[in-house]
Amino acid sequence: MDKIRIKGGARLRGVIPISGAKNAALPLMVASLLTDEPLTLSNVPALADIAFMADLLRSFGVRVEWTAGTGSGQGQGGIYRLQANAIRGSTADYDTVRKMRASFFVLGPLVSRLGLAKVSLPGGCAIGARPVDLHLRGLQALGASIDLAQGYVIADAPAGLKGGEVVFPSVSVGATENVLMAACLAKGRTVIVNAAREPEIVDLGNCLIAMGAEITGLGTSQIVVEGGGRLHGAEHAVLPDRIETGTYAIATAIAGGEVELTDTSPDLVSALLDVLAMVGTEVSSTGTGFKVARDGFRPRSVSVNTAPFPGFPTDLQAQFMALMATSEGTSRIRETIFENRFMHVPELVRMGADIKVEGDTATVAGVPGLKGAPVMATDLRASSSLVLAGLAAEGETIVNRVYHLDRGFERMEEKLGRVGADIERIRDK
Ligand code: UD1
Repeated sequence: MDKIRIKGGARLRGVIPISGAKNAALPLMVASLLTDEPLTLSNVPALADIAFMADLLRSFGVRVEWTAGTGSGQGQGGIYRLQANAIRGSTADYDTVRKMRASFFVLGPLVSRLGLAKVSLPGGCAIGARPVDLHLRGLQALGASIDLAQGYVIADAPAGLKGGEVVFPSVSVGATENVLMAACLAKGRTVIVNAAREPEIVDLGNCLIAMGAEITGLGTSQIVVEGGGRLHGAEHAVLPDRIETGTYAIATAIAGGEVELTDTSPDLVSALLDVLAMVGTEVSSTGTGFKVARDGFRPRSVSVNTAPFPGFPTDLQAQFMALMATSEGTSRIRETIFENRFMHVPELVRMGADIKVEGDTATVAGVPGLKGAPVMATDLRASSSLVLAGLAAEGETIVNRVYHLDRGFERMEEKLGRVGADIERIRDK
């Protein structure tokens, strides 16, 4: 397996173009199942999870054509043309869903289009139990009967889905997306109460509208879908990746220097930018994104709680903890979305960080400097936090098992290398 080697201490200076959002592209690709006409998506990042989703859709008979991008950012990302005019299967097996939880998104679109879908339960996952009860509850409210047998969810609606009221007891991004897609083909009005407000939901909704769906309330906690019409093909550009954006903003804060992030928007990461201002980082908007700078002083510790959008994203918690590990003072970081999402802590501690976890809260006492070490991460965001810690650490850090990183960050070592980080990939022979 490839590794990444970082020699810490270099300041960052230059421009990093931001790629399209993985977490928007995945459900957008699944939306192709709702029509027999082609859906063309641009600004799609070249990531392992995206290729995996393309394979899953192919297994259902979707025609997938892919044109590689020439770089990152609007107009340069990859293009996918997806056409589901001859669906031949509606089963996603355990091996598929186990590898990528987002495979579960196909349940709603398949049952709404075909009247039947069989998708394996995702099972446990490295960041907590992550159940799917909200997805199932939502589809039941649209008239699907749900059976669980031999580890599979079987959703059945022979006469098609019917609009209904879906009240989520807690906010779920994936369940909102699953139900939103299913509701487009369900007959009549669906109201989703306590819907997730993440920008990726708005992006998916806008693409569905371009495909002919009638949706209001996107970006609010109540989404209304007037379903039942036929959807048609469309072209849609995937929105910028706010987690990649935030990760490179934190990288600049941790390493020092000045970096301009392009093809993105400060509005996508305003909760983080507010916190980075308190840390002592300068942030200024540009026409195509924003600049982050930190020069000559130590970052200050700030406490954060993760929360659904527009709160501080759980997907930036690990990276922010790497920054707090070297800041002046003590920070308390509370993870409210996922249990067990502190797997990066023991690795940061091996690099010299002083972090104690109690329940859902990590107390990070900033140390003046971290020390490079061989480290290993067990999930995507944790891997990126170790790369960031390596930028600030004295000496060499080797991040092992970087396939996690490749699932969610497009050419991270290249992007950081171009702005002056001393970083390279060591390929597995
Ligand atoms: C999505 C993102 C992920 C991000 C997360 C929270 C994608 C592909 N992934 O994941 O990167 O970290 O949002 O912003 O977009 N829950 C239930 N029952 C359910 C569904 C969820 O209890 O049926 C719980 C989860 O265990 C978790 C919380 O709800 O504690 C939020 O999860 P959810 O918003 O669904 O996350 P994902 O859609 O899986």
